[in-house]
Amino acid sequence: MKVLVVGANGQIGKQTTEMLQEQNDHHVRAMVRKEDQLNEFKEKGIEAVLADLEGPVEQLAQAAEGCDAVIFAAGSGGQTGADKTLLIDLDGAIKMVEAAEKAGVERFLMVSALQAHNRDNWNEKIRHYYVAKHYADKALEESSLNHTIVRPGGLLNEAGTGQVRVATDLPERATIPREDVARVLVASLNQEKAFNRGFDLVSGEQSIEEALKTL
Ligand SMILES: NC(=O)c1ccc[n+]([C@@H]2O[C@H](COP(=O)([O-])OP(=O)(O)OC[C@H]3O[C@@H](n4cnc5c(N)ncnc54)[C@H](OP(=O)(O)O)[C@@H]3O)[C@@H](O)[C@H]2O)c1
Repeated sequence: MKVLVVGANGQIGKQTTEMLQEQNDHHVRAMVRKEDQLNEFKEKGIEAVLADLEGPVEQLAQAAEGCDAVIFAAGSGGQTGADKTLLIDLDGAIKMVEAAEKAGVERFLMVSALQAHNRDNWNEKIRHYYVAKHYADKALEESSLNHTIVRPGGLLNEAGTGQVRVATDLPERATIPREDVARVLVASLNQEKAFNRGFDLVSGEQSIEEALKTL
């Protein structure tokens, strides 16, 4: 599969891109928004393309041209205001879904957030963030794309364990290393049990392969 990683310079995005680059059965293209990031990937032998989620859908569609799948791992981050949450996490994600459809991409994996599908469990302090994630996920569900919505718990920077818990609904707050989220994304690309569905994801006691089979 040829996979476009959106947000490839981010923490999950970078690990996902590098894992895909190491695998023989996938080819990866990193989507970044700055020239120096582009050069950094190219120096590592990774195909890279410049595009900005605040730019037009046509530019994003060009970035996705020739790809079989998109992994959306971008985000406005915790340091920006609610305006960027709207522009990146909501509109940027939806524009990328539109762009993937335009470019004839078949598969789209979205990095969402734990319980984004369940209003009763949204963290009051960042409710606007959950609104953005919720409606971006809905737009993907309503698209023509074969989608997987991965909703991880609180992200950690420690090494992954490869042991996870997945389910349609995991209401208790919990965490997961970014490395394991990246592994789940890569493993979900061809996993039919993950097609056209969303799931919560936290650290657990099953191997990723086994956990995905329970979906
Ligand atoms: N933090 C948590 O506990 C948590 C929990 C669940 C889910 N999530 C979600 O997980 C995802 C990944 O998280 P992360 O921590 O790996 O993210 P991250 O390190 O903040 O990376 C986000 C990436 O998005 C890129 N980006 C931002 N605006 C862009 C634009 N206009 N055009 C193109 N790219 C743009 C950034 O580019 P630059 O490198 O140029 O800045 C960055 O590379 C996010 O969607 C986040 O909401 C987070």
